[in-house]
Amino acid sequence: MARVAVKDLVKRFGKVVAVDRVSFEAKDGEFLVLLGPSGCGKTTTLRMIAGLETPDEGEIYIGDRLVNDLPPKDRDVAMVFQNYALYPHMKVYDNIAFPLRIRKLPADEIDRRVREVAKLLRIEELLDRYPRQLSGGQQQRVALGRALVRQPQVFLMDEPLSNLDAKLRVYMRAELKRLQRELGITTIYVTHDQAEAMTMADRVAVMNEGKIMQLADPAELYFRPANTFVAGFIGAPAMNFVDASAKVEDDTVVLDTGIYRIRLPKDASEVLIKQGVPSEVIFGIRPEHITVSKQEFPGSFAAEVFVTEPLGSETIIDFKHGDAILKAKYPGHFEASPGEKIYIGFQLQYAHVFDKKTGKALV
Ligand SMILES: Nc1ncnc2c1ncn2[C@@H]1O[C@H](COP(=O)(O)OP(=O)(O)OP(=O)(O)O)[C@@H](O)[C@H]1O
Ligand SMILES: [Mg+2]
Repeated sequence: MARVAVKDLVKRFGKVVAVDRVSFEAKDGEFLVLLGPSGCGKTTTLRMIAGLETPDEGEIYIGDRLVNDLPPKDRDVAMVFQNYALYPHMKVYDNIAFPLRIRKLPADEIDRRVREVAKLLRIEELLDRYPRQLSGGQQQRVALGRALVRQPQVFLMDEPLSNLDAKLRVYMRAELKRLQRELGITTIYVTHDQAEAMTMADRVAVMNEGKIMQLADPAELYFRPANTFVAGFIGAPAMNFVDASAKVEDDTVVLDTGIYRIRLPKDASEVLIKQGVPSEVIFGIRPEHITVSKQEFPGSFAAEVFVTEPLGSETIIDFKHGDAILKAKYPGHFEASPGEKIYIGFQLQYAHVFDKKTGKALV
């Protein structure tokens, strides 16, 4: 068990800066997720920690040891790859047992651990097959098994659940998380699925274009995103963003979207005024923080329904804001036809204001 720290890590591929001064520390026993869109540098970061890629700049520590010059086999990490490579000529059993055999563990212990892991991954009945006789999701679980069967200092996992169906994925998320807690093994886990990151992580590093945009626990990312990128990446449906001009009237900040005039609460206004109110801002509000009703209510605005998406337990209501479409989430079934008039209200205690120029969160 050990912490993993990277400091000012840089990796270039020709002109592409795949990883651009990334620093973070996964504490001893922590489940840290690297989350970000395709191509943002997640796999490259993980491969550098595993020792499969050499950084152009920066330092990597496992425990208190600088490991930059240590070969992969001496780093005591187990990595699950995005494109899981199994040994094609070995049966599933032998694929999973392999890391234990090279460590020369006694046969009965190997057998016990292989069966334990196979049970956890629900692949017990596949132990006698060859990889080519498995589906993609089954192969992925075997690859995961090969990492889990060892008890290394660090787990590095690159989208290990991407090929599983929705139900199995939810089951495996919970199982992996439980196992990680139980073993207390520091884990760095890569995904582009924000729901997976939010449910599994102790903390999440949100990456974009080779950089970390914010590193925080899931609640912090949801309630206090540092910028529009994080705000838009966390949560589904995504946060609504509306351009607005801002000015101060009687000690409160008033946002004008061209259609709505939104008067911010006193405390938020104070914070904003103290740091200086830019004239152009982005107003951000999550769909679940927009109240929808057929009747007018205090503070509501009239809006026109564009389309509704009934999901059973909730309804997503798309409504028009000038040429743009905003989304509201209604907890329950909401019947409305396109063009119908509704009333919407912003729960301003959950609203966000970003600087339009920098994208940074102001309040
Ligand atoms: N071996 C390589 N040679 C050249 N460019 C590479 C190489 N590996 C990665 N890249 C580039 O570096 C950037 C980061 O790639 P990386 O694989 O780390 O992204 P990722 O975040 O894991 O994406 P995904 O979610 O699609 O797996 C991309 O622009 C990619 O094209
Ligand atoms: Mg990747």
